[in-house]
Amino acid sequence: SVLEMEVEQINKGNYEHYMQKEIHEQPESLTTTMRGRLIRGGSCKAKTVLLGGLKDHLKTIRRSRRIVFIGCGTSYNAALAARPILEELSGIPVTMEIASDLLDRQGPIYREDTAVFVSQSGETADTLRALEYALENGALCVGITNTVGSAIARNTHCGVHINAGAEIGVASTKAYTSQIVVMAMLALAIGSDAISSQIRREAIIDGLFELPSKVREALKLDREMKDLAKLLMAEQSLLVFGRGYNYATALEGALKVKEVALMHSEGILAGEMKHGPLALVDENLPIFVIATHDVCFSKQQSVIQQLNARKGRLIVMCSRGDASSVNVGGSCRVIEVPQVEDCLQPVINIVPLQLLAYHLTVQRGYNVDQPRNLAKSVTTE
Ligand code: G6P
Repeated sequence: SVLEMEVEQINKGNYEHYMQKEIHEQPESLTTTMRGRLIRGGSCKAKTVLLGGLKDHLKTIRRSRRIVFIGCGTSYNAALAARPILEELSGIPVTMEIASDLLDRQGPIYREDTAVFVSQSGETADTLRALEYALENGALCVGITNTVGSAIARNTHCGVHINAGAEIGVASTKAYTSQIVVMAMLALAIGSDAISSQIRREAIIDGLFELPSKVREALKLDREMKDLAKLLMAEQSLLVFGRGYNYATALEGALKVKEVALMHSEGILAGEMKHGPLALVDENLPIFVIATHDVCFSKQQSVIQQLNARKGRLIVMCSRGDASSVNVGGSCRVIEVPQVEDCLQPVINIVPLQLLAYHLTVQRGYNVDQPRNLAKSVTTE
């Protein structure tokens, strides 16, 4: 009806689509996610994290033999992005499970495990079944959801709400970045009794405070990504290379492109390049390489050289100021992003890829907010 259409327009504000609005509101949604949870500390008090819904369970989590992340789609990718920092700060092995695959295998889950269920809606059928399975096996079950009162929030032993606000677009954007931030805070909370990592933890907390303004800077790439989308709109396929902290960014960037722009796209772990993907490289296939500054940077530089040597058509994302060191041959298109503490960089790096997926979709003439065949909440197995 006309009324419904008007209400929709009010909800979208000045934006044409929910996905676009949700991408651009990330500085605010991230602020809400962190509100009241980061303690700056006084003159001599340390900076810390406070997660009310977990504080009675932190001791048990610290004693667990393994942390298992369980989710589907974008929620799985968010957990993958947080995995390195959780391993680093907790010292506990962290394993990853796609909910349906865990159920297909009836994979082992033990009483000594902490199982973390990541779900924007809190209602995804496979994730919910996996939760029932983990409960039966006696694991401590933690929920990370965006929906207060959802099935996963209700049935876990404890948890954290991401407080990103309602997400309407079927393709998850602002929930992804808020999920990563919550899992980084989870890592800080679990590691908070270790003196040895205090300096690192404080640097991460400082990084979290800077994050909304850095995301705002990254959003200024909108125009550049729109131009890039024009260049790529008729392509059949796009590869996205990442590694380390940004392996997840490669998977999530590719997922955005395939689910909304209906273009084949694949996220590739750069370390696996020689085990297959290199065979695809020619002068036509566009390849997006994430090479922001972290411990993997020199390895990523050599990946770029090898792709260049095969005349790959490269688009390289690097940290501001690194353009000349990633584009030695001068043949790459370079996108510079603001730099933050390495483990938080995935929150920045996904933004240009979200914008690219959005603009590709609009230019290809597809439905941005409701891609064909997909649903926001998958409530059947
Ligand atoms: C669907 C949605 C995705 C989402 C996935 C998991 O595929 O389209 O955006 O990432 O479900 O949903 P959840 O609510 O569990 O995070």
